[in-house]
Amino acid sequence: MNVFASRSLCVIEDFSINERRYFFQKVHELKEAILSGDEKTMDKFRINDPDFGIYEVFLEDSTRTKESFRNAAKFHHAKVSELLCSSSSINKGESYADTFNMLSGYSNRIFIVRSKVEGLTKWLSEECSEYAERNGLPYRPAFINAGDGKHEHPTQELLDEFSFLEDLDMSFDSIHVALVGDLYHGRTVHSKADGLKIFNHVKVDLIAPSELMMPESYIEKMNENGFEVTLYPSIEEYLRKGDVARLWYFTRPQLERMGERILQKQDVLREAITFRKDFLPLLKPGTKFYHPLPRHKEHPTIPTWLDKTDLNGWERQAINGMYCRMVLLSLIAGRIGDDYVPVPGEHDSDLKTEEYIIRVEPSGKKKDKNYSEGVRPISDGIVIDHICKGDDPGDIRTHMRLISSVLGLDDGRGGEWISTGSDGKYKGIIFRPGCRTLERKDLKRLAAVAPHCTLNIIKDGRVVEKYRTHMPPRIYNFDDLCCQNEACISNPVNGEGVPSSFIRTPDGHFACAYCGRFHSFKEIWKKH
Ligand code: NCD
Repeated sequence: MNVFASRSLCVIEDFSINERRYFFQKVHELKEAILSGDEKTMDKFRINDPDFGIYEVFLEDSTRTKESFRNAAKFHHAKVSELLCSSSSINKGESYADTFNMLSGYSNRIFIVRSKVEGLTKWLSEECSEYAERNGLPYRPAFINAGDGKHEHPTQELLDEFSFLEDLDMSFDSIHVALVGDLYHGRTVHSKADGLKIFNHVKVDLIAPSELMMPESYIEKMNENGFEVTLYPSIEEYLRKGDVARLWYFTRPQLERMGERILQKQDVLREAITFRKDFLPLLKPGTKFYHPLPRHKEHPTIPTWLDKTDLNGWERQAINGMYCRMVLLSLIAGRIGDDYVPVPGEHDSDLKTEEYIIRVEPSGKKKDKNYSEGVRPISDGIVIDHICKGDDPGDIRTHMRLISSVLGLDDGRGGEWISTGSDGKYKGIIFRPGCRTLERKDLKRLAAVAPHCTLNIIKDGRVVEKYRTHMPPRIYNFDDLCCQNEACISNPVNGEGVPSSFIRTPDGHFACAYCGRFHSFKEIWKKH
């Protein structure tokens, strides 16, 4: 079986570390073949099917990504199309799902999509798979994220790493790289938080003034991934104080994504991240500069006088973009990849299964028996205890209203109150007298909305069943959930009707399944 066939690449982690390492070896092979004119090897990579549809949809500007993909697609002798977005029905209020479903039906197998809307390709890969199944299409369309807002740019990540690898003799052992520039808005550097995991040891120096520094969540991710991360406010400071890297990755200030407040300071900010002549003697021998490009013609962070020096790695990097994209198309088309040996468990994080509803034995102590309905003890019913322990009483009350509505406990008798536990901390209690049956799916919903609570089921004045809930690994399928990132495909402002879905991170945040934005548990329940 070819594990790459029909796979989407929406974020860099969609391909495992081992799959990416295999990919780089294939790029190395194809690049050599092309440079030496080895037609036989080139043909092994070629899709060679004029009916195989590769479709480019660029809803944001692009030169390199779009053109390198188009040229890569032509290498494959495939059918290459492009949607003219300015004259498409997206402008008549059509949803992305409807547009791409229809294009999937026209024998198009791979979509390359760039958009301001974060998480778009992930959503489309889900929707168009179902469409293909409903309509009996003989293939499942694959989606390649060619850059989504400030989120990720996984194919740029592949070509950046391939270029670094060439400098490191294709060794995955270790890397020390400086990321310089607009680390806040730049999606290419955000993809590095997971992308650089292909190396066994990673040292990253982040160089940007605070306004352009990498968002906390990506730094957190780098730390979780075991990278050694150090922050510097300017190149000058880095060269004075830092253990200077040999590989430098520059980015441009992304003016089009900046608000007024930052735009006003652009000259000062640019200075901190622009290379100067007097810095040259402070570089290590063998230093290489990279840049995803474009650079600004008047204010480049890598000045043009450096083009003809040995520091220039960015031109080779841009050319590598086409080789990488040729190989990626070949893999997704299933043309190559049969010889890949999967590593057991390499996609296990997708299937996190853990028990988060624990049945415990009622203690039988008096304490378990005396939940009361006002002044009367409850003889039959349910009591949810230890809700939002330690929170502010106002927050606990708001959250209890949400729990009650989500679990359908709004009808009938009962109430909510706030008390203090033996440790003096506030906690919420919901009690509902009367017989109720709670099924497994209700317990799952309870755990999602009220983790770390205790559910008591009372019959004849005794607690007959007792459960403790823990944080579930995924929270989805609730109308009240909402990703707080307005650029995300699942945010209601975009009107695409995408249900929110969150995945718990190792440090207890909830990452949106589409745009990756980190949320606290409370934030995911803040419906606009
Ligand atoms: C980058 C992008 O679009 O994110 N460009 C690219 O794809 N080569 C970087 C940028 O626009 O600055």
